[in-house]
Amino acid sequence: MEFENIVAELNDGIEYITLNRPQVLNALNIDTVSELRDAIEYAYRDDEVKAVIITGAGGRAFAAGADIAEMHALTPQGGREMIANGQALMCEIERLPKPVIAALDGYVIGGGLELALACDIRIASKKTQFAFPEPSLGIIPGYGGSQRLGRVIGFGAAKYYCMTEERIDVQRAYELGLVGKICADDVPVLEEANRIAVGLKERCPEALAAIKAVMREGQNADIDTALDIEKKAFDKLFLSPARTERMGLFLEKQKNKKKKS
Ligand code: COA
Repeated sequence: MEFENIVAELNDGIEYITLNRPQVLNALNIDTVSELRDAIEYAYRDDEVKAVIITGAGGRAFAAGADIAEMHALTPQGGREMIANGQALMCEIERLPKPVIAALDGYVIGGGLELALACDIRIASKKTQFAFPEPSLGIIPGYGGSQRLGRVIGFGAAKYYCMTEERIDVQRAYELGLVGKICADDVPVLEEANRIAVGLKERCPEALAAIKAVMREGQNADIDTALDIEKKAFDKLFLSPARTERMGLFLEKQKNKKKKS
């Protein structure tokens, strides 16, 4: 896949997407967002892709937000198009029936945080920090951040960070559930993301897709509707030959273990 602002490579079932504008801390200009949409579309279409990892080049940032220089010059119509493009990307990541991991190292700010929030799993290095500094620029998070942050860390905490612009360090992010794991100093974040992705490849892909779908759909539903969504997805998986095969394999392994002991 040839791109100008990102690098996307498929290796052994994992699509690695690297934001590649380190000279501007991987700021998300309009072209970068469009290229990301193409890279996610590729993951959607290609059966070989079992998991996606998104990371940033340069070692200083995942992404320091939307490109302010580009945004400054946009007309109101251009601004609307930019937001539509960005929101579409985040929804496409959420709806991709494959796991997406954000491997975070350094600044995760504004649109960078919104991109991370759209991913399923977020892991971060110790130097990672998060913020939504939009009010200082006269705007609000527009790629879904004002809505998704609260769904991840709770409404009150999200409003606090969206309004105060306070930086969230990685320890606080972990406590809030914004990151699932803080990587040890001697484990590069991409290496850890890769380890997780390899593990995900072993799982039943239909089950992972169902987890994404039911958790997304159920999040905004009342409890009865949400349980119904879960029940239907469970039922569908229960009918699949993969379920019988995987449970049979587990039982076989247990039998062999007993024979050996
Ligand atoms: N858009 C465009 N360019 C950006 C950018 C952004 N969001 N974030 C950083 N850059 C550019 C800087 O202009 C600078 O370019 P230059 O070397 O040509 O001057 C380069 O990236 C490095 O950034 P710099 O500010 O010098 O690094 P720093 O370590 O002093 O500060 C940040 C890092 C992240 C604190 C700071 O760059 C910043 O506040 N960025 C904007 C974050 C933001 O408000 N994002 C939300 C946008 S909606």
